[in-house]
Formats: sequence, C-alpha cells, structure tokens
Amino acid sequence: MNRRRLPKAGTYQIVPSVLSADFANLAQEIAEVTATGIEVVHLDVMDGHFVPNITVGPPVVAWIRKCTNAVLDTHLMITNPEKYAERFAEAGSDHITFHVETVDDPAAFVRYLRGLGVTVGVTLNPDTPVEAVEAVAPLCDMVLVMTVNPGFGGQSFMDDAARKCIRLRQIVGPDVRIEVDGGIDPTTAGIVKGYGADTFVAGNAIFGQSDRPAAIAAIRTAIEKG
Ligand code: DX5
Ligand code: ZN
Repeated sequence: MNRRRLPKAGTYQIVPSVLSADFANLAQEIAEVTATGIEVVHLDVMDGHFVPNITVGPPVVAWIRKCTNAVLDTHLMITNPEKYAERFAEAGSDHITFHVETVDDPAAFVRYLRGLGVTVGVTLNPDTPVEAVEAVAPLCDMVLVMTVNPGFGGQSFMDDAARKCIRLRQIVGPDVRIEVDGGIDPTTAGIVKGYGADTFVAGNAIFGQSDRPAAIAAIRTAIEKG
C-alpha cells in the first residue's frame, strides 16, 4: 500500500475532523477542505465501549481512502485496539493513534503498529496524567492531547488538559508532533500553540460552519498570530 506520511514536524497543521461533517457526502466534504491546502484529515473511530458513542469502522475508512489523497489520521477510541488496528491499516489509514488507557504495553503496541506500515500516535484523556505517556511518547510520531473527554464533537475546550502540551513538548522535543483535539477554534488554537502544540484538530469549528474555507482561514490566522 502507498502510505502517506505526516507532514514533517515543525510545520503547523490544521486537521479537520469529519465527525462534524455530513456523513452522507463525505467525499465532497473532504474535497472542500483539502482544496484549501489541508493535508491531513482526522477520522474518529468510536466503539460504544471506550466512549459512549459509535461512529465508523474499517469499511468506511476504505471508501474514504478511495476519494482523497489526504493523510488519514485515524483516532481509535476503542477498547482492544490490538484486535482492530490491522484492519484500519489495511483499509488505508496512514496514521493510527491509540489511547494509552486501552493497552497493557504501550511501547510494544507502538512497535506492532509500525510493523503495519503506519505512523503512530498515542493519546491520553483529560483525566490521564502525562506520566502515563512519558515513556511511550518519544517512540511515537505524534502525541495527541485530548482537550475534551472523547466521544462527541462540539464540546468545550479544557484548558487544564491542554496545558499538558507544555510538559510533553519538553519530553518529546521538536521532532514529535503534538496534536490537540476537542474544542479547538480560532481562540483556543492560539492558546494551545503557546503550549507547544503544532497539530490542531477541529471538527465543529470547520464542518459546523457554512463557509469552511473561511473557517479554516480564521484558525490559520490565529495560529500565525498566536
Ligand atoms: C472527540 C473527537 C474529536 C472531535 C472534535 O471525541 O475525538 O476529534 O471531532 O470535535 P470538536 O472540534 O467539535 O470539539
Ligand atoms: Zn479525535
């Protein structure tokens, strides 16, 4: 499989989450954002166990793969990611992020994911301390800091959780991306940039708006100024 790689660390990336998009028109929704220069698209996978919501599985990822060249950043909010990761890789996910709360041996799971050919991310819930990812974060391409409790789009940004980016940046240095997810909009994007984030997931602030190019431009301006 021809895998796309995450843009190299050191560049700011806005990553639209299709959770707030029109799922009956996903190809068109994704094309609209990639036309503005977006390189990475965020896919939220929820199982109704790890989080109280259900979204999409590998078949949907496979169809999305056929309709875009964007890097598919797949956020697994599922128990037993060991059981399903291979199917997401086969479906065309380029990058897979798992929750540290869901595996017994995070470092071993990172090695396993790399063997599938994908780039790797680890994430932690707002209530999970930085120490839980301290050892594994430097082994990853990206660390995802959840700035809401996962499960739904459109929730309010949690500043205390976002501040974990500061310590994580000290731990991972400049070569690992730090992504934030939850309640990111033009105001909060500027704040998390200040904490050391370089990768900004936004669902409602992009797909919840009627003018998506303007919504992306507003976040981009905030990051450049922030
Ligand atoms: C939340 C998901 C997010 C979600 C963010 O559980 O992981 O990716 O789409 O949505 P907003 O940007 O609306 O908070
Ligand atoms: Zn997400």
